[in-house]
Amino acid sequence: MRFALFPACARALVLAALLGAAAAAANPGAPADAVHQGVASCASGICHGSAKPRSATPVQQNEYVTWQHFDPHAGAFHALSEPRGREIARRLGIADVTAAPQCLGCHADAAPPAQRGPRFQLDDGIGCESCHGASDRWIASHADTPRVTHADNLRAGLRPLEQPVVRASVCLDCHVGSVGNLATHAMMAAGHPRLSFELDTYTELWRTSGGREHYVRDQDYRQRKGLPPATDVWIAGLLAQARRQLAILREDPAPGLLPEFALFNCYSCHRTMGLSRWAARESSPAGSAGALRFDDSALRLIAAVLGAAGSADATLLPEMVRELQAAPGRDWAAVQRAAAALDAALAPLAVRPPALSAPQARVLLEQLSAAVQRGEYRDYAGAEQVAMGAVVLLEASGQPTGSAAVEALFASLADDERFDAARFRSLLEHATK
Ligand code: HEC
Ligand code: HEC
Ligand code: HEC
Ligand code: HEC
Repeated sequence: MRFALFPACARALVLAALLGAAAAAANPGAPADAVHQGVASCASGICHGSAKPRSATPVQQNEYVTWQHFDPHAGAFHALSEPRGREIARRLGIADVTAAPQCLGCHADAAPPAQRGPRFQLDDGIGCESCHGASDRWIASHADTPRVTHADNLRAGLRPLEQPVVRASVCLDCHVGSVGNLATHAMMAAGHPRLSFELDTYTELWRTSGGREHYVRDQDYRQRKGLPPATDVWIAGLLAQARRQLAILREDPAPGLLPEFALFNCYSCHRTMGLSRWAARESSPAGSAGALRFDDSALRLIAAVLGAAGSADATLLPEMVRELQAAPGRDWAAVQRAAAALDAALAPLAVRPPALSAPQARVLLEQLSAAVQRGEYRDYAGAEQVAMGAVVLLEASGQPTGSAAVEALFASLADDERFDAARFRSLLEHATK
């Protein structure tokens, strides 16, 4: 039911449009040996534990209270030992799920034991430092403004999460995973939810969870840190997601008889009745009926963005995606070669991502809708990505994002078991008119 929240959040984003954000240099992050001091270190009433928002400083100072009561991340550790978590563990033969490294990597702040300060508690779940970075070199000084600047804090290891590229990398560590830290197909078959992510949508869902705001996107915030347009956030997230999936494909150690199914599009194996009614046409090469498909929705959307932005790479990418999709029919080395070639094509884009003007956003929206009408993005995973992108594009082209048509579009995605591709197609056409 996560999308029930969505249109209201999208409206809050409208202000962000058309603001050029300065792309600051990437942050090296905290030194590798930095110590995580634990949530309790941030939670004092005069720091971030105020019951109500305060106005003494630019930040609200109630972030701890908001996190504790409303942030899904605060309960991530406890979710492991709730009935669903226990059931997953039982089916996988995990004796103590609260100590299972294959779960803690995403359900807690997985700092190595030597880097846990005296107030660190694993059962705090995903705490402040999971996202903001280990705090030992900045916690004592970071609030001493104006003597200590944001740049000083970044040098001491605070992560510049206001930058979409940095934020994408932090969120995707858990919402896509990485080599050695995957939500595997075995976990999903044991009951783990399918992972789904889009940086702009999920940032807003999370930022406003429980109807509270983790941070306020006001004029003051904009002046201090900038508020990039939603399309920039969307594109940075797509690029990071595609490159991370490719990296996992490239580095996945030679699989056994079968590769890790979680790397593939779930709906290339798990079909619903709605899917079979949708005219067959997609990016896969001819003769690949019945073949497994990688989850390539991020890659295909990047190709569409490049097309709308008038980039020369626009024609190259779809061909390379088809190559990747055809590779598993040959051998795993071919998969890894195709992934490497695609990643080499994406690397320069990640340094200088394409940006979309309002008219280009409008054109892209029409092209996406037309592609869906032709039968592309025809499974649930693709439809979900298109819907989240469509809202970003509606906003970027100055159109309302909270209309009844947009709400109906997201309502049609509330349950993948009841997803009906034909219905989605007509709702999308309606919502993007
Ligand atoms: C790669 C990161 C990753 C790994 C590894 C992982 N999870 Fe998760 N898990 C997530 C994310 C992200 C969600 C939220 C999914 C969503 O709703 O979008 C989640 C959701 C869940 C939920 C549902 C929580 C709720 O409130 O409904 C349970 C239960 C869960 N995970 C248990 C486990 C267990 C048990 C393991 C180890 C066997 C595990 N997870 C491993 C990332 C991970
Ligand atoms: C899931 C990741 C995540 C967690 C967990 C998290 N934050 Fe944040 N936080 C962010 C992001 C993203 C931003 C917005 C980007 C920025 O300004 O750094 C932010 C913004 C903030 C801001 C506003 C900064 C400003 O300049 O206005 C404060 C203060 C803050 N967080 C404190 C906390 C505290 C304290 C905790 C723990 C109780 C916490 N955060 C937990 C991701 C997180
Ligand atoms: C350390 C791993 C980790 C990091 C980092 C992380 N998340 Fe999560 N996220 C999770 C897990 C696990 C859950 C599920 C928690 C639960 O339900 O108990 C979750 C839940 C969520 C949800 C709720 C999803 C739903 O279906 O209700 C949103 C939205 C979200 N995260 C957004 C973000 C964003 C945005 C960032 C980056 C700023 C981020 N997350 C960083 C692991 C992480
Ligand atoms: C290569 C084909 C393939 C892909 C891709 C695939 N699965 Fe599966 N999945 C299977 C098979 C085979 C089974 C076992 C079916 C059985 O036991 O009858 C299964 C079982 C499951 C089950 C348990 C179903 C049950 O009735 O017990 C779940 C849940 C599941 N998969 C989720 C996913 C998710 C989520 C994804 C995408 C991340 C995914 N699968 C990708 C082939 C696949």
